[in-house]
Amino acid sequence: MPGQQGRYPPQTPEFEPLVSDERDPEVLSKYQNLLADEPRRISPKMLAIGFTASMIVLGIILWYFQPPPRVPKSEVVGYVDHSTGVGKLPFMGYNTWNAYACNINETVVLESARLMKSLGLPDVGYEYVGIDDCYSEKQRSPQGDIVASKERFPSGMRKVTDEIHSLGLKAGIYSDSGWFTCQLYPGSYGNEERDAKLFQEEWGFDLLKYDNCAVPFDSVIKEGMVGKYTRMAKALSDLTKKTGKQMLFSLCQWGREEPWLWARKLGHTWRTTDDINPSWGSITDLLNRNSFYAWASDFYGHNDMDMLEVGNGQLTYDEAKSHFTAWALMKSPLVIGTHLKDATKETLEILTNKEIIAINQDPVFGTGITPFRWGVNPDWTWNWTHPASFWSGQSQNGTVFMLLNTLGTPVDLSFTLTESPWIRAGRQYSVRDLWTHTENGTAVRNFTARAVPPHGVVALLMKDAGDEPEGTQPPCARPEWCMREDGRRIDQ
Ligand SMILES: *[C@@H]1O[C@H](CO)[C@@H](O)[C@H](O)[C@H]1NC(C)=O
Ligand SMILES: *[C@@H]1O[C@H](CO)[C@@H](O)[C@H](O)[C@H]1NC(C)=O
Ligand SMILES: *[C@@H]1O[C@H](CO)[C@@H](O)[C@H](O)[C@H]1NC(C)=O
Ligand SMILES: *[C@@H]1O[C@H](CO)[C@@H](O)[C@H](O)[C@H]1NC(C)=O
Ligand SMILES: *[C@@H]1O[C@H](CO)[C@@H](O)[C@H](O)[C@H]1NC(C)=O
Repeated sequence: MPGQQGRYPPQTPEFEPLVSDERDPEVLSKYQNLLADEPRRISPKMLAIGFTASMIVLGIILWYFQPPPRVPKSEVVGYVDHSTGVGKLPFMGYNTWNAYACNINETVVLESARLMKSLGLPDVGYEYVGIDDCYSEKQRSPQGDIVASKERFPSGMRKVTDEIHSLGLKAGIYSDSGWFTCQLYPGSYGNEERDAKLFQEEWGFDLLKYDNCAVPFDSVIKEGMVGKYTRMAKALSDLTKKTGKQMLFSLCQWGREEPWLWARKLGHTWRTTDDINPSWGSITDLLNRNSFYAWASDFYGHNDMDMLEVGNGQLTYDEAKSHFTAWALMKSPLVIGTHLKDATKETLEILTNKEIIAINQDPVFGTGITPFRWGVNPDWTWNWTHPASFWSGQSQNGTVFMLLNTLGTPVDLSFTLTESPWIRAGRQYSVRDLWTHTENGTAVRNFTARAVPPHGVVALLMKDAGDEPEGTQPPCARPEWCMREDGRRIDQ
């Protein structure tokens, strides 16, 4: 309120107590006289009758005002049941595609599952083992079912999922919303109910990744993208009503027609972009695109930035760290896609950073980090080589920051704390580095990460550490419209 007089900073107002503590001496003496009177005698019988009567009256009152019975609240959003816990957090696991593409078989799948286990990956949260395209015969059976490839999966799918389950893991399968999969194996269009039943009930899978190739003609489908994906969502939802088990539904829809606006009602995750590849250009391209809709992830609905390429291609150690940090803190599913038996110490160190994973799996805050400043380019610039550098978000234990060096040389990355919406003015913050796993002092007003390597990343957790030192100048860290109580602006 400009012009209002008072002290700065504003003090807690001193309220007049509503009830005076001073007793009227006249009233007080009457009261004391009353107490001095001979106490009345009440017979035990009267006492019992009175007690019973008052209990009955109390009972009637309580019965009349009882709260309505607790009906379990329906938490079904579209076709997704938010009461099951399935898909509440970004799912974590392994998928064969990035490492093996079409060259899969039961040996590869089960060996990957066993390696996950022996490398301790389930201990840090990796749970699903996903089979991607190319697992089936080219033709459905005469009855109309998808048939597992006799050559690649000779033991049958049930054997594979049993084995995966016996390791304490969950199993993922793949299909397509069109006539065929992208590698031209049978798709599920027109067979949604049959295939959902096969995948879940007969084969025992827990997750379905659902691709976007081989779209039927308009004159056949008469649906848009939403309708095309609703078909399987409905089939899975109907099956859940029957079996009580919900499959995690992962829409692989490549970000066409803005799935972040509608896919939350159909499934748990939706791809936001085209396929990733193991190059820095692909990482920055996907980061640039996702920076514009990073706000859309929350519990039970996550932007899927595609499977991880950590350990693959020509990515440097710093590039792989940046890739993993961004995917995790933006709440993308974390799906390992490298040959686990050849995984280096660095690859495993990156994939098992518990402090970074904890934020991806935060039970309290479902939203991810979003950019607060682009850095190299002006804010909101669409640029696939130089996406936003300064990001922040909320977490259970404080505000998370990600600083990304998109340049080919080391740079210092500096920011004012209150550039992030999640920081309080006038407070100082303890700084934890989530990659070196160290406490890095206390930040007052600003923070500078020195010599961040080319394509490198810094991930910080800032915790409120009380008021900033008295007299910290200038009076407002963000000078715009900063004003003294007497109405004088100090930013002009
Ligand atoms: C399974 O696939 C792997 C990787 O493509 C290959 O090396 C191996 O020979 C295959 N095994 C069988 C039994 O087909
Ligand atoms: C918050 O801190 C606790 C205790 O260190 C830890 O167990 C938890 O994983 C942290 N949560 C997040 C989201 O980092
Ligand atoms: C992306 O940004 C960089 C740095 O500003 C600039 O050199 C480059 O030309 C931009 N790329 C495009 C396609 O605009
Ligand atoms: C950061 O804040 C401190 C404390 O207010 C101040 O002395 C310093 O000049 C600031 N640095 C930058 C780069 O703004
Ligand atoms: C935090 O401190 C560690 C240990 O001194 C150091 O290696 C790291 O670079 C620091 N992090 C930042 C962001 O300054």
